[in-house]
Amino acid sequence: MFDLTGKVAIITGGSSGIGAAAARTFHQLGASVTIGDIQAEAGEALAAELGDRVRFSRLDVTKQDDWERTIDETEAAFGPVNVLVNNAGHSGHWKPASELTLEEFRKVCAINQEGVFLGMKLVLPSMIRAGGGSIVNNSSGYGLVGAANNLDYCASKFAVTGMTKAAAIEFAPSKIRVNSIHAGVVLTPMVRDTMASLGADGDVFIARMPLNRGADPSEIASVMAFLASEAASFMTGAAVPVDGGLTAQ
Ligand SMILES: NC(=O)c1ccc[n+]([C@@H]2O[C@H](COP(=O)([O-])OP(=O)(O)OC[C@H]3O[C@@H](n4cnc5c(N)ncnc54)[C@H](O)[C@@H]3O)[C@@H](O)[C@H]2O)c1
Repeated sequence: MFDLTGKVAIITGGSSGIGAAAARTFHQLGASVTIGDIQAEAGEALAAELGDRVRFSRLDVTKQDDWERTIDETEAAFGPVNVLVNNAGHSGHWKPASELTLEEFRKVCAINQEGVFLGMKLVLPSMIRAGGGSIVNNSSGYGLVGAANNLDYCASKFAVTGMTKAAAIEFAPSKIRVNSIHAGVVLTPMVRDTMASLGADGDVFIARMPLNRGADPSEIASVMAFLASEAASFMTGAAVPVDGGLTAQ
């Protein structure tokens, strides 16, 4: 696929779903990987399974101290960080705006939006020490198009799309590329839980995909690996749909 030999990557939300698939793919392609997540048990088990180029770090992406410790520990273990995958996320509350509380709205934005801001800002010195790097922000198809009952999630994911473009321009002189990925339905615990909670209404998620199926997490991880690799050396500021055609409509 793509060569990530010698890359040092932090993957947030790496204990589950797309992040766990990315940890597997990046490791297989030769990268050293820190899985950063609030779910320690699953993250530590995955790190132990993959072996000595993979470690787990307890990281709540909303907490600056956690980021600083995770980046320091990664640099001490593997060297300066040259890949950051901002993947940790909250599904949103899937309810009408009139029922969505300010606390619920802020919680989603704290994880999905502020977490990405903190990651990009705080990894910068390490990436500059590395001589450059690649940041892959996991936005969503709903960071490009809207959906009903999805105001909190859309707000946070459109913010990721915008921050990606702003950072791409600002970080370019430091040879740091920044791109966003926009997945459609990916069959992960997050989506299975959301679809289950919506009952029959959950079927609409698949019906919206022209390819008429949900993705396997590995199908998103492979595009993350591409963007992290030198194969994407002239790509920055791009919003890349990996969505089974959702946003082509
Ligand atoms: N699954 C989909 O259909 C889909 C579609 C588009 C975008 N996404 C995005 O992909 C990303 C990964 O989602 P997933 O579907 O793999 O879900 P998931 O629930 O399987 O994994 C999300 C991970 O994020 C972690 N996490 C949550 N809050 C955190 C925090 N504050 N700090 C650190 N880690 C935290 C969770 O512990 C979990 O391991 C999310 O940003 C999501 O919005 C998913």
